[in-house]
Amino acid sequence: MALSVVILAAGKGTRMRSSMPKVLHPIAGKPMLQHVIDAAYQLQAQQVVVVAGHGIDQVTAMLEGQKVEIAEQAEQLGTGHAVDQALPLIDDANQVLVLYGDVPLIKPQTLSELIQQTPTNGLGLLTVKLDDPMGYGRIVRNQNNQVTAIVEQKDASQQQLLIDEVNTGILVAKAKDLKQWLANVDNNNAQGEYYLTDTIAMAAQSGGVEACHPTSSIEVEGVNSRVQLAQLERAFQQQQATKLMEQGVTVIDPARLDIRGELNCAQDVLIDVNVIIEGKVTIESGVVIDANVIIKDCVIGAATHIKSNSMLEGATIGKNCQIGPFARVRPNTELKDEAFIGNFVETKKTVLGKGSKASHLAYIGDTVVGEKVNIGAGVITCNYDGVNKFQTIIEDGAFIGSDSQLVAPVTIGKNATVGAGTTVTKDVAENDLVISRVRQKHIDGWQRPQKIEKK
Ligand code: UD1
Ligand code: CA
Repeated sequence: MALSVVILAAGKGTRMRSSMPKVLHPIAGKPMLQHVIDAAYQLQAQQVVVVAGHGIDQVTAMLEGQKVEIAEQAEQLGTGHAVDQALPLIDDANQVLVLYGDVPLIKPQTLSELIQQTPTNGLGLLTVKLDDPMGYGRIVRNQNNQVTAIVEQKDASQQQLLIDEVNTGILVAKAKDLKQWLANVDNNNAQGEYYLTDTIAMAAQSGGVEACHPTSSIEVEGVNSRVQLAQLERAFQQQQATKLMEQGVTVIDPARLDIRGELNCAQDVLIDVNVIIEGKVTIESGVVIDANVIIKDCVIGAATHIKSNSMLEGATIGKNCQIGPFARVRPNTELKDEAFIGNFVETKKTVLGKGSKASHLAYIGDTVVGEKVNIGAGVITCNYDGVNKFQTIIEDGAFIGSDSQLVAPVTIGKNATVGAGTTVTKDVAENDLVISRVRQKHIDGWQRPQKIEKK
């Protein structure tokens, strides 16, 4: 049966105290709603419908370009009313899975089990037992332990309030059945809302209700405040760190690793504390990443060592390279194998050839550096004339003395030597030495200026 997923996301989220709709707040750098959509598509959903209301324009903007439909719920009259807004978009024959934009850690595996166990003309319900069921809808069962109804906290009797099995809100049923049941739901209850949960008693009367449970209650936890957002962020990061460790990565402290994106990591990688991974990152085997490193959209070759406090973005790094501490590797940097970038070196749109080094204090931008080149401390490629950018080429084996400026466009030939403190404005031929310092002068017995006494 084809699957349609309905994601409720119309609520205001008052307790977030935010101008941004709650479901757009990120977990691991990705909107909560996107986590739920991604889970839906992992289930091979044919269709995803987001029910939006508060902040619908912002939600719509976030969903642009995705295969997601939006149903507007202008007034939030209850969860039953919310699902009802999506149903006209859904084929009667489809199965409907109801998810929540503010319950981001739900696992596709749990959902596919729920779908599998849903009775043909009945309803599959995800429930969980909680030490403190306060606030949740309670699961009412009969003597045969079959689910017969859900009663909301505000409508429950003293006896029912003692039930510790609660409704997660997540359920599955056929679109045709849901339409019929919801048509019979009224708002005659303590909150004056159209409760989705009132369909459970109706399903129990027809095809029956089957309850399933998540592997952990964190999967069904919702976010109502920024405190809860932070708790789910940590839980999610812990899950990712655990997965890495199971794959053969040493994570020095799983509580101090943040992966905000997609990390593809080989075995025997070591990640020290306070490392942030963003975007799409691939790390090959034997890489060591020291403390306080930020890596975004990079490929890091085998056995490379990235030392503390370095930032890398949009770079391809070869094998056996050394980077940092305190290196800034900017987009379109390519380090060939065994290249070396030391402290306070910034690179951008630059290829650094095999075995080449810039060990300290340099800016290398729009540059192609050959093999075995040595770039001294304080070297700057002057790539910008205030209007245009130009390229610098440094050929194999060249030696660039400290505190030199290479004014682009300029080429330093193979094995050429640039003397310390030189400003290079013209191309330097192979094997040449170029030097532009003024000759050193000496003046005997030089008298320094004297302080003039004030009267
Ligand atoms: C709901 C369930 C309750 C369950 C709990 C789990 C009902 C009647 N109750 O209660 O049994 O234990 O979730 O968290 O379903 N929403 C809309 N439009 C609306 C109303 C709600 O989009 O008109 C969205 C909200 O944005 C929210 C979600 O649905 O994300 C749940 O709504 P909420 O009002 O918080 O339901 P609860 O009272 O928590
Ligand atoms: Ca709620």
